Amino acid sequence: MSDSAFGDRAVHIRIDGKRFGDTAVLGSIALDVASGRTVAITGPSGIGKSTLLRIVSGLDHDFEGEVRAPARISPVFQEPTLLPWLTALDNLTVVTGAGTEEAERVMQTVGLENKQAHYPHQLSLGQQRRLSLARAFVSNPELLVMDEPFASLDEQKADEIMALTRRLIEDSGVTAILVTHALAEARALGAETFHLSGQPATLTKGIV
Ligand SMILES: Nc1ncnc2c1ncn2[C@@H]1O[C@H](COP(=O)(O)OP(=O)(O)OP(=O)(O)O)[C@@H](O)[C@H]1O
Ligand SMILES: [Mg+2]
Repeated sequence: MSDSAFGDRAVHIRIDGKRFGDTAVLGSIALDVASGRTVAITGPSGIGKSTLLRIVSGLDHDFEGEVRAPARISPVFQEPTLLPWLTALDNLTVVTGAGTEEAERVMQTVGLENKQAHYPHQLSLGQQRRLSLARAFVSNPELLVMDEPFASLDEQKADEIMALTRRLIEDSGVTAILVTHALAEARALGAETFHLSGQPATLTKGIV
């Protein structure tokens, strides 16, 4: 990948406001994420974290302001969104268009090389999370957006998946934005951390 393509992975967020009807959810928010950096956004339930992530991902255009993000975005959500009627390997290739060889390589990276023919219901929750991560990376994304991806895992599994996520992020050079309640998750990814608070919500750098 050329340097100029790598430079295009930066994210530029300038939101002046986001409302749902009469409710102003987001206020003025400015954030730049340089190529290859990982940023975490923490904040209490209902403050607007997922709303902000949907805007950054291009899923919500109904806001005041401007967002520039790379074209190839991979989302990772709290619940694994695997297709139950496809094998693990087909979950990596059919939706993403990735080739079998690439899918096999990524399955090996996440330690699922023996599970290619398994269906999602034949995998443990931790293995489903790892498969979801593999799917996020198999399409060689420029930006990874993660919305509470480590929730509802026991501590040991969460630690394992967080370490794996960090390794995949570092090896791929992807730019990453993590939204979470948990500061420990931001730390585990070595992320620069921002806090969302207030109504309408604004962003403060560092830990509050
Ligand atoms: N489609 C919608 N229509 C109306 N209000 C919405 C919509 N989506 C979100 N909201 C409201 O916007 C606010 C922020 O919601 P959001 O899902 O962004 O919060 P969050 O910080 O991600 O919370 P959590 O940590 O619980 O996931 C909430 O008050 C929510 O009720
Ligand atoms: Mg949310």
